[in-house]
Amino acid sequence: MGADLAQTSYLAPVFAQYPLEVASASGVWLTNSRGERVLDLYGGHAVAGLGYDHPGFTAALASQAHSCNFQTNAVAMQVRERAAARLVSFSGLPFASVFLVNSGAEANENALKIALRVTQRPRIVAIEGGFHGRTAAAGAVTFGAREKWYGFPRTPFDVSFLPRGDLAAIASQVGADTAAVIVEPVQGLAGAVDLGAPFLAALRERCDAVGAFLIFDEVQCGVGRTGAPFAANLYKVMPDMLTTAKALGNGFPCAALLMTAAVTATLKPESLGTTFGGGPMACAAIEAVIEAIESEGLLERVRRTGAYIREHCIVGPVTAHQGAGLLVGLRTQRPARQIQAELLECGILAGTASDPHILRLLPPYILEEEHVDMLRDALSDLTP
Ligand SMILES: Cc1ncc(COP(=O)(O)O)c(C=O)c1O
Repeated sequence: MGADLAQTSYLAPVFAQYPLEVASASGVWLTNSRGERVLDLYGGHAVAGLGYDHPGFTAALASQAHSCNFQTNAVAMQVRERAAARLVSFSGLPFASVFLVNSGAEANENALKIALRVTQRPRIVAIEGGFHGRTAAAGAVTFGAREKWYGFPRTPFDVSFLPRGDLAAIASQVGADTAAVIVEPVQGLAGAVDLGAPFLAALRERCDAVGAFLIFDEVQCGVGRTGAPFAANLYKVMPDMLTTAKALGNGFPCAALLMTAAVTATLKPESLGTTFGGGPMACAAIEAVIEAIESEGLLERVRRTGAYIREHCIVGPVTAHQGAGLLVGLRTQRPARQIQAELLECGILAGTASDPHILRLLPPYILEEEHVDMLRDALSDLTP
């Protein structure tokens, strides 16, 4: 059997795609296959924190590729030690160890496994609207996955979903059978829904009271996206485990599970494992990303540009904003997909969310106010 000559794509037909083909990219700009520039306010699902063709990032990857492109965790490498230490110091939080993996879902899968194994309890509590990934455990705690795409005959543990922001429900749902609560402090796919300090602090208090772990999924909202290293810093709530990915590698696939000393003490050789996780290219990417965020003052810039968007972009079809830093949800009067399509015609790429009236912005941290002005002008010209 040979290939079907009439077939134009051999990629699995599982992604709805924007009417945009990217040929190259630099800074905050994409260039499409017709040679036209498109302002990227979506950053490849929150990944391109440093934007494109960042000199330090590109040089670090090239240099690591030349010196040693891969060795597994069975072999010691300084770049791996440096990446883990740099990530903990960047967090400014009392974490004691880092397990490096490949994707956000894998980081969550490992965090959940640790919580279930250590507590020997059957239940994970997640939050309505949360997204945690597509694997068996991460999908099990993703709100709405079972109805839409989960696919496995049953979840690997009991799951309940807590209504967002419902302080009263916490005590009734998080109890003696709960191994962990997993929460995105700022929900991404839901539409940049900021759960806020009181709710997160109440989860922390209840987890302490019943002996459950608190897991922050900062795959989307971490690594500077909110203008703080992590949302845990922003809201001053310390989880037992924190997962992060996306902007961590600026496009080089990598993810991390950060753990406190108490969690680390439950681990022994072979408790966890991975082939590609913590590979030297990924570690060089992590180091380069943190170096750029720190040396270029990008946290401050995220806070400033995020505030500028909120101040200036409530125009045209946009009536309100939500989120934190450069994880922005703009509430639209008309369906956000219409606004997204109209903006793309004006050369601006924005995202949408599971809330059909939220236009989601996840731009590179290097975004400038002049780029926000372009968005404001384009929105002002649209029909409300
Ligand atoms: C909050 C959150 N957690 C987990 C994931 C899954 O990450 P990955 O696609 O790298 O497995 C995502 C991806 O969008 C996410 O936004």
